[in-house]
Amino acid sequence: MKNVLVAGATGYLGRFIANELAEQSYVSRLIVRNSAKVEFDSNKHEVIKANVTDASSLTGCCDEIDVVISTVGITKQKDGFTYMDVDYNANLNILNEAKRSGVKKFIFVSAFKADSLTHLKLCNAKEEFVEEIQNSGMDFCIIRPTGFFSDMTEFLKMAKKGTVHLFDDGNYKMNPIHGADLAKVCVEAIESEDKTIEVGGPEVFTHNQIAEIAFKVIKKKPKIRYIPEWMRKTFLGITRTFTSSKAYGPIEFFFTVLAMDMIAPTHGKHTLEKYFLEVSKMKQKVQ
Ligand SMILES: NC(=O)c1ccc[n+]([C@@H]2O[C@H](COP(=O)([O-])OP(=O)(O)OC[C@H]3O[C@@H](n4cnc5c(N)ncnc54)[C@H](OP(=O)(O)O)[C@@H]3O)[C@@H](O)[C@H]2O)c1
Repeated sequence: MKNVLVAGATGYLGRFIANELAEQSYVSRLIVRNSAKVEFDSNKHEVIKANVTDASSLTGCCDEIDVVISTVGITKQKDGFTYMDVDYNANLNILNEAKRSGVKKFIFVSAFKADSLTHLKLCNAKEEFVEEIQNSGMDFCIIRPTGFFSDMTEFLKMAKKGTVHLFDDGNYKMNPIHGADLAKVCVEAIESEDKTIEVGGPEVFTHNQIAEIAFKVIKKKPKIRYIPEWMRKTFLGITRTFTSSKAYGPIEFFFTVLAMDMIAPTHGKHTLEKYFLEVSKMKQKVQ
C-alpha cells in the first residue's frame, strides 16, 4: 500500500480525500496549517503542522511518501495572498519538497477548462503550476473538475433571499460534483495511468434547473432574474478597473465560468437536490 501525503486536507475536497484514503486503508499524512480547523482521527492519519506558503516549514514532509495529492488553492480565503502566491508558489514549495524526497507521483486538482482559460488569474496560476509538474520528471495526474456542490450553495443562498440571479437566459449547463464523488476520483488517480482526468457530477443541469431545485428545497415559489450579457461585461470591466486583483480574481473566474457550458464526463452518485436538503437542514439546526 502506498503512503500518501495530502496538502489542502482542511478544505472542502481535502477532507473527503482524507476520509477516502482511510476508507481504502492507505497510510496518509495530512498537512494542516491550523489544527483547530478540522479534527482528524489520529488512528487514521498522521497530521503534521506546516504552512505551504512557507517552504522552510515543509522540510521533510514528503519523506517516505510515494504519492502527493494537492488541493491547495485560493477559493474564498481572504488572507491577502494572490493566486500566484498560493495556487502556483505554495504548490511549487510542495512539489520541490516532493522531488527532494523522491516522491513518485504528484496529483494536482486544477479546474475544468482552466487550460483554455489562462487569461483568468486563477487559471493562469494553476496552469503555470501544471507546467512545473509536467517538467518535474515525476509521474503525475491533473484532475480537472467542474464546480463543487459546496459552491452551488450560492444558488441556495440567493433563493433564501428571494431571487436567484442568472446570466443570459439561465440556460448555460453544468454538472457540478459532490466532494465525496470527486475524492474517489482523486484516490483512484493514485493507481491510474491517466495524466489528465476531466470530471463532473452525474447530473447535467441548466442554471435555471439548479435555481428551481434550490427553491423547491426551501419550499418557495421560484423567482429568477436574468442578467444580460452587456451588464455582465460592464460589471467585469468596472471591477477590473476599480478593485484590487485579489478582489477581482474570484469575480473574474465565476463571472466567466457561469457564462458558458461547463459539462465534463459524468461521474459519481450524489444528487444536488439531496445535498441542498442536507445543507438546509444543517443551517436550520444551527439557527
Ligand atoms: N470549489 C469549486 O467549485 C472548485 C472547482 C474546480 C476546482 N476547484 C479547485 O479545487 C481545489 C480545492 O477546492 P476546495 O473547495 O476544497 O477549496 P477550500 O475548501 O478553500 O480548500 C483549499 C485548501 O487550500 C489551503 N489554502 C488556501 N490558501 C492557503 C494559504 N494562503 N496558506 C495555506 N493554505 C492555504 C486551505 O487551507 P486552510 O484550510 O487552512 O484555509 C485548504 O486546505 C482548489 O484549488 C480549487 O481552486 C474548486
